Amino acid sequence: MSKQFDVIVIGGGPGGYIAAIRAAQLGFNVACIDEWKNDKGGPAPGGTCTNVGCIPSKALLQSSEHFEHANKHFAEHGITATGVKIDVAKMLGRKDAVVKQNNDGILYLFKKNKVSFFHGRGSFSKAVEGGYEIKAGDETLVGKQIIVATGSNARALPGVPFDEVNVLSNDGVLRIGAVPKKLALIGSGVIGLEMGSVWRRLGADVTILEGLPTFLGAVDEQIAKEAKKAFDKQGLKIELGVKVGEVKTGKKGVSIAYTNAKGEGQTLDADKLIVSIGRVPNTIGLNAEAVGLQLDERGAIVVDADCKTNLKGVWAVGDVVRGPMLAHKAEEEGVAVAERIAGQHGHVNFNTIPWVIYTSPEIAWVGRTEQQLKADGVKYKAGTFPFLANGRARALGDTTGMVKFLADAATDEILGVHIVGPMASELISEAVVAMEFKASAEDIARICHAHPSLSEATKEAALAVDKRTLNF
Ligand code: FAD
Ligand code: NAI
Repeated sequence: MSKQFDVIVIGGGPGGYIAAIRAAQLGFNVACIDEWKNDKGGPAPGGTCTNVGCIPSKALLQSSEHFEHANKHFAEHGITATGVKIDVAKMLGRKDAVVKQNNDGILYLFKKNKVSFFHGRGSFSKAVEGGYEIKAGDETLVGKQIIVATGSNARALPGVPFDEVNVLSNDGVLRIGAVPKKLALIGSGVIGLEMGSVWRRLGADVTILEGLPTFLGAVDEQIAKEAKKAFDKQGLKIELGVKVGEVKTGKKGVSIAYTNAKGEGQTLDADKLIVSIGRVPNTIGLNAEAVGLQLDERGAIVVDADCKTNLKGVWAVGDVVRGPMLAHKAEEEGVAVAERIAGQHGHVNFNTIPWVIYTSPEIAWVGRTEQQLKADGVKYKAGTFPFLANGRARALGDTTGMVKFLADAATDEILGVHIVGPMASELISEAVVAMEFKASAEDIARICHAHPSLSEATKEAALAVDKRTLNF
């Protein structure tokens, strides 16, 4: 006998578990199926984000930053720290505990919201009267509405599969048991920079090989340039415009043949290689063919602006569909779909999705870059304010970077805000709120910001749009 549900969510990452909770809040009888296993074989909901993405990477970034501060920055404060050592096993143990707290938190939330959780693989079997039959491990469920949130997997270099010993994905990189002497990364995108930073701080000699000739091409050029200067100073080696050739692995590690930007053949030998060249949508085991669920040439589930697939009553959200692969984007889509199923007007504003790279300095932005505005032929005004002139940043001892505002030349509406510097991840929220409410730069400039705070740099950058900064 099959179990009947109003809504079945396949995948328990940020897209799926949030969709399940919101649907339950709206009064539906909801099931969520997730196959992720912890090291004991038990359930570990939360997806890539919780298990091998956002959360563990930020835990390691925090530990490694403490290490770097103790070694390099405590002295400025008159604090002597001698014999500072890193216990990698303990650091990894802490990271695992943080992950487990999040896994357990989601299981608790399922109980609290009366979401039925099934641990195992979810797959389509067939369309039935008024819905779909779904296999959840050994059980058979029937749902009137199905939300697919099966996420993404790391993309491998052609012919170089991940062995998670020498050639690591975002999974293996979280389990490196000792600081490697030499670490190579391919791809200086978000993972390359975050993970490269972790292991550089802990003492590895890190080289990142990047295929594109420009650094962080999607980021505002001025901000990317400032960030690159900081990474160069830290000793994070980034080679742009390379073409990666043969990758050989052996007992001693990895050897990567590549052509540099000048066209010269080079070899990079390293103890380990992290491949961080993007991610691919995941529909493995979903049995999409059984019901004729349409995928595109990248393997992503085809959806419209409302996350509807080609099948009536089947929706898809998060990394498995188009758009940025970000946890908060997946969550927003999950909430919107649950609300649409309930007949409400769920909405995701793609123009105000923030991006954050959690390096030091942090990089965060929302809206369009200066180069995008130029390409779109939009007349704009720009205002910047350096953290060097911010009292709180000086007190923190972290004055790298700036806040940059881009506003419409005629209306003063904020079109983009770009930050490189301390706590950019937190500062960007004000810009998101402002853009969501269609604020002008002057609106931010006229709002009282606490002193001394990093957020005063945001206010000053808004003032700079009108060339009237007060502290610079
Ligand atoms: P996922 O989180 O991938 O979850 C999908 C879930 O579905 C998984 O648990 C999977 O096991 C399960 N599943 C798949 N198929 C089936 C099936 N057939 N049956 C049952 N279960 C199935 N984003 C940010 O916003 N901020 C960050 O700081 C950030 N850091 C990241 C760091 C790293 C190293 C990586 C790799 C990613 C990071 N991301 C970050 C991206 C973020 O993790 C993803 O955008 C987000 O997890 C996508 O959520 P999702 O729900 O679509 O998919
Ligand atoms: P990415 O798309 O951020 O960066 C990949 C980089 O690899 C690009 O710069 C690309 O030009 C380069 N590249 C691609 N193929 C290459 C090749 N053959 N040789 C050399 N360089 C090559 O992808 P990444 O870092 O793997 O991360 C995947 C996604 O995960 C991100 O795009 C993001 O959506 C998400 N993520 C988000 C984080 C955050 O929000 N802080 C943190 C980490 C990941």
